[in-house]
Amino acid sequence: MRVLKQARQMSLTAQALRRQARSVGFVPTMGALHDGHLSLIRAARRQTQVVVASIFVNPLQFGPGEDYERYPRDLRRDLNLAKAAGCDLMFAPHVSQIYPSGACTIVEVEGLGEQLEGASRPGHFRGVATVVATLFNLVQPTIAYVGQKDFQQAIIIQRLVKDLALPVQVRVLPTVREADGLAMSSRNAYLNTEERRQASALYQALSAAKEHLRRGERGAQRLVESMREVLDRCPLLRVDYLAVVNAKTLEPLTEARGSVALLGAVHVGTTRLIDNVLVDVS
Ligand code: PAF
Repeated sequence: MRVLKQARQMSLTAQALRRQARSVGFVPTMGALHDGHLSLIRAARRQTQVVVASIFVNPLQFGPGEDYERYPRDLRRDLNLAKAAGCDLMFAPHVSQIYPSGACTIVEVEGLGEQLEGASRPGHFRGVATVVATLFNLVQPTIAYVGQKDFQQAIIIQRLVKDLALPVQVRVLPTVREADGLAMSSRNAYLNTEERRQASALYQALSAAKEHLRRGERGAQRLVESMREVLDRCPLLRVDYLAVVNAKTLEPLTEARGSVALLGAVHVGTTRLIDNVLVDVS
């Protein structure tokens, strides 16, 4: 596996791959790789000819007081895991390669980034959209792979690609979970034993609401209450938001119908976790 650290090297390599008409699968990450990321790399390996991943902890998507400084970084471990999963080329730039001095352009996907995660983390999706647009320009992927765990992010990336007519397909792959249902996340590493035990309640809460939906409940308020009941049993969890939204537009629903996304974010000690489940309510 080649490791590239310069934006120019990445761009020249992408241009060469394009001239050779080779399909490129791309998995953007912030490192601290887990099975969720590796499932994306493996899918890219199966579906495209050249697999590129990136590791870049993007300062622009962290707010003041968030975990940018302490975000887990272990490049050597990540390179070994990515290589074993079938990655051909890892782009691991320094901040100055992505945001050279004087950089002042931002990408904002209006209307999809202010609610849910965006309400708790103002400016977060501006940072995500800006770095993803830059990475797509440098890597020029045929297909980009993102995880459903970051559902709002996936919707925003799809919208960005559509609106800017970027020549890339975005594939959203299912969340990979631990045995007790906890969604895999680099931030799970922050949890102590008791926090880790209670953290799976977020998925249990979403699953409880999904079960209520399956049995005919349509009232969004009552679905949220059913999630809250599960979370209230876990004293270490503090709810940030629980929501029932249209899975395409992210608009809040009062009645759950059509493509529905149940989403939640909780604080567990100093760690913030998110998760979601999708339900088709015909
Ligand atoms: O999901 C992530 O790891 C990041 O938000 C991404 C898409 C790599 C952009 O920094």
